[in-house]
Amino acid sequence: MPTLNHVLTFTFFLLLSCHCHLLNGQEDTSFGRAIDRKLLGLKRKEKLSHFKFYWHDIVSGRNPTSVAVVPPPPKVNTTTAFGLVNMIDNPLTLGPELSSKLVGKSQGFYASASQTEIDLLMAMNFAFIEGKYNGSTITILGRNCVFHKVREMPVIGGSGLFRFARGYAEARTHWLDLKGGDAIVEYNVYVMHY
Ligand SMILES: *[C@@H]1O[C@H](CO)[C@@H](O)[C@H](O)[C@H]1NC(C)=O
Ligand SMILES: *[C@@H]1O[C@H](CO)[C@@H](O)[C@H](O)[C@H]1NC(C)=O
Repeated sequence: MPTLNHVLTFTFFLLLSCHCHLLNGQEDTSFGRAIDRKLLGLKRKEKLSHFKFYWHDIVSGRNPTSVAVVPPPPKVNTTTAFGLVNMIDNPLTLGPELSSKLVGKSQGFYASASQTEIDLLMAMNFAFIEGKYNGSTITILGRNCVFHKVREMPVIGGSGLFRFARGYAEARTHWLDLKGGDAIVEYNVYVMHY
């Protein structure tokens, strides 16, 4: 019959081996480890920034910035253009006029993602060229029901000044040419970043 001493000794060795195992486990995962956030210059508290600009989707004319690269398959709902993919390099300007100050480009694509509504999947980087934001990007991935008054899309990240960014963008159509397909959309972007 095991004495209390036996049990205690056994428990001790059990704990010891568990401990060693944990230590080994930590050593094994040397490709990922906790580091001090100060090493990345993240001393300050996160801040919240608001950006407002206009996004120009130019599909018509001789110099389109938005080009259909995948046409919708002919057999699906032609109203929603399900399957259509447009690659974009759309200007972002301070004011609603294309001639107003250029603050960056919106690069990426949008795709028609619904068979029953006009919904776009937006996947784009706002690549800024203005002031201290020059060279920094904000990445948007979201759903854009283009005929709704306000469409909200998540900010899923960013680069440069927007490392660790998260937040959301609100899109409001400012002007739409139903015939030619061109659109000017007001974007308000709210981003938490360091
Ligand atoms: C096609 O899209 C239109 C407009 O969005 C919608 O009203 C209609 O129900 C759709 N048709 C089918 C067959 O899904
Ligand atoms: C932005 O950065 C690029 C490359 O570093 C530089 O050539 C350009 O002049 C800058 N633009 C502005 C507006 O500062």
